Amino acid sequence: MKHKIILDCDPGHDDAIALLLAAHHPAIDLLAITTVAGNQSAEKTAYNALKICSLAQIHNVPVAMGMQSPLLRPAHHAANIHGESGLDGPDLPEPDIELAPQHSVDLLIELLLKSEGDITLVHTGPLTNLAIAMRREPAIIPKIKAISLMGGAIGVGNTTPAAEFNIWFDPEAAKIVFGCGRPLTMVPLEVTHQALVTPEVLQRLRVSERRVACFAADLLVFFAETYLRIFGFVYPPLHDPCAVAAVIDPTMLHTHRMRVEIETKGEWTTGRTVCDIYGKPAQEPCTHVAYALNVPWFWDTVIATLLSYD
Ligand code: BDR
Ligand code: CA
Repeated sequence: MKHKIILDCDPGHDDAIALLLAAHHPAIDLLAITTVAGNQSAEKTAYNALKICSLAQIHNVPVAMGMQSPLLRPAHHAANIHGESGLDGPDLPEPDIELAPQHSVDLLIELLLKSEGDITLVHTGPLTNLAIAMRREPAIIPKIKAISLMGGAIGVGNTTPAAEFNIWFDPEAAKIVFGCGRPLTMVPLEVTHQALVTPEVLQRLRVSERRVACFAADLLVFFAETYLRIFGFVYPPLHDPCAVAAVIDPTMLHTHRMRVEIETKGEWTTGRTVCDIYGKPAQEPCTHVAYALNVPWFWDTVIATLLSYD
């Protein structure tokens, strides 16, 4: 049985690879792509999702545009990491598909309400769409099978010393989602920093001379340059596909069950995922916090899926 998922994302270089992984992996049935402001504005991330789908000929999955800004705060996009377009680097042709008529929030509500409780939500951007959907239609909450999200850190953040970008961008939304009571897997920086794009990875993509795999390699070269310049990383971490990988085969990530609270009032720590590592017994609500990834399996999975495109 395939895992039915909705991918809620803010493409974004690593979101683009997460999208390509979700759309073509045989264990995943991608029902919809809902986009949100984060790495760039809502218009730009939606446009980028359309461009990626067009390039990869993903024509059977609706793409919706979502929330423009966080619940209570101004939007601070990540142009320093992803460029002015949100997907700088290789040129992409204009999309040949159109946006779905619904807003991301409405599409999430519609698909969850009519589901049989068998949809897993995968989030690779800020959690604004889902938080709004839960507030507007609480009946969706028990319908969510599980949530897998890239976000947070057990330790050091990447946007402030305390906070990772997706949670920092909209901490109030994260607080709602982490407190919803559904099974939630958090894939933090400690895991994604294990998924490093080495020259060997790029070589495995390029040697095929396949269009989509070579496009992915070009995207990752741009990403590598940013990560070297901003963070001094020799190889860039491929964050977002890790949250899709956690659905494809949860046994390939080690997780600890613990209480996670979101800091929304800190002077220096807003957006921190406060992980109660030593809490015994873990207090509800409980989050499955991933801390280790089977890295060879991850790359074999991502690369094989990218190579399955033309
Ligand atoms: C996260 O922030 C974004 O820039 C990436 O797309 C990823 O989702 C990593 O902190
Ligand atoms: Ca992202």
